[in-house]
Amino acid sequence: MKKNSMTMIDNRTGKSYEYSILEATRGPSVVDVRSFFKDTGMFTYDPGFTSTAACDSEMTFIDGGKGELRYYGIEIEELATNHSYLDVCFLLSTGRFPTQEESINYDLEIRHRSFIHSGLKNLIESFPNSAHPMAILASAVSALSSFYFEHLELKSEEDYMEMKRRIIAKMPTLAAFSYRHSLGIPLICPDIERSFTENFLYMMRAYPGGKMHIGVDGEEKISSVEIEALDTIFTLHADHEQNASTTTVRGVASTGAHPYVAISAGISALWGRAHGGANESVIAQLEMIGDVKNVPAFIKRAKDPEDDFRLMGFGHRVYKNFDPRARVLKKLQDKLSDALELDSELIMIAREIEKIALSDPYFIERNLYPNIDFYSGTILYALGIPKSMFTVIFVIGRTVGWINQWVEFKKDESSKIARPRQRYLGK
Ligand code: SDX
Repeated sequence: MKKNSMTMIDNRTGKSYEYSILEATRGPSVVDVRSFFKDTGMFTYDPGFTSTAACDSEMTFIDGGKGELRYYGIEIEELATNHSYLDVCFLLSTGRFPTQEESINYDLEIRHRSFIHSGLKNLIESFPNSAHPMAILASAVSALSSFYFEHLELKSEEDYMEMKRRIIAKMPTLAAFSYRHSLGIPLICPDIERSFTENFLYMMRAYPGGKMHIGVDGEEKISSVEIEALDTIFTLHADHEQNASTTTVRGVASTGAHPYVAISAGISALWGRAHGGANESVIAQLEMIGDVKNVPAFIKRAKDPEDDFRLMGFGHRVYKNFDPRARVLKKLQDKLSDALELDSELIMIAREIEKIALSDPYFIERNLYPNIDFYSGTILYALGIPKSMFTVIFVIGRTVGWINQWVEFKKDESSKIARPRQRYLGK
């Protein structure tokens, strides 16, 4: 019997089966059951993959019990507080921080790739104005594969870096175009004089022709506070291990499809309200609750097994403690409440929900804590980002994680096509 192994015994036959235990550098070890079906003629059973590791990865580590999140070993609090989103993109793309010169060059490379082919503008403008920006974005990103079809075959490290730079750079532009089209107003092209995050706010807010509104103080209406807040939000959303949308991206990667259609599939998966769509649902829920005095009634509904009402922004498959990103956002919310005139009524309702939920046995027994979406919504709302764009903001932040998880999958020689089995209960 091998030392680092687990033995399973089929009590029906007394037969035993031994499986190797593979160690991790952080977090749980894994039991290698790849030969389980061949050995036993049975499948392991894990709908929702609550106990299943689908791959090896070196990028992002989550300790759900401690409420810890790291990118390449660096804690999210450190990244969100002391590094720009683009430097975090460089870290996720290379495994290290850039030198000062690399940081400047990477920023320039991204700015110069933020432009969009006019054919894509026509595609976006072909949608009805009533189309949700997420629907437009998923379609536009899929169409982007047609303009860069050469990325289907990536041969050199530079090919991979170029493919990643392009999608990271173009996502904010496609996102702003999707939003402006939904308003029926002319699209605004990127201004490469502006940083990544400022440029997105500019493309969202500029008047037709590109002029920005100048306030009575003579300042352009894009404040440094807003840019810093949104840059932090992008960093907090950058990657998150094997969540539902990343699993979708890796699934599409496993069939050999174009990287940008895998990202499009990730956008579609993220849209669901159980996943990235929760941030938009949190604000809608706070607005529906409408007053602090109505909170107890909604908490009661959230606890009622007969009622499918759930508290948006609460609970997480992995975090059985505070989501560390929520902790950063809560501090940011406190810091910005005056500067951004956060909607005090919505914040008060959110704080009341948090206070009641965190002391209620139903939530405590189920380890239901506020997650990233619970706080991001109120800050985005205060930044004047419309609800329909909340999940789009999540897409902009997460694109770097998705595309680097895609590359990690492609470079893993043990990767196979994703093809789970089932327990058949039919005739
Ligand atoms: C994100 O995976 C990631 O990493 C995702 C993400 C990322 O960065 O990629 O972190 C982003 O998606 C955050 C989650 C955003 N979603 C929401 O806020 C939607 C509300 N949350 C729930 O839908 C739910 O908590 C999930 C989907 C997030 C997690 O669901 P699980 O792990 O499958 O847990 P479960 O549904 O099995 O619930 C366990 C129990 C159940 O009660 P019992 O059957 O045991 O009595 O907890 C209850 C659930 O009813 N429960 C809730 C609840 N979430 C779970 N009850 C009320 N309100 C909730 N929000």
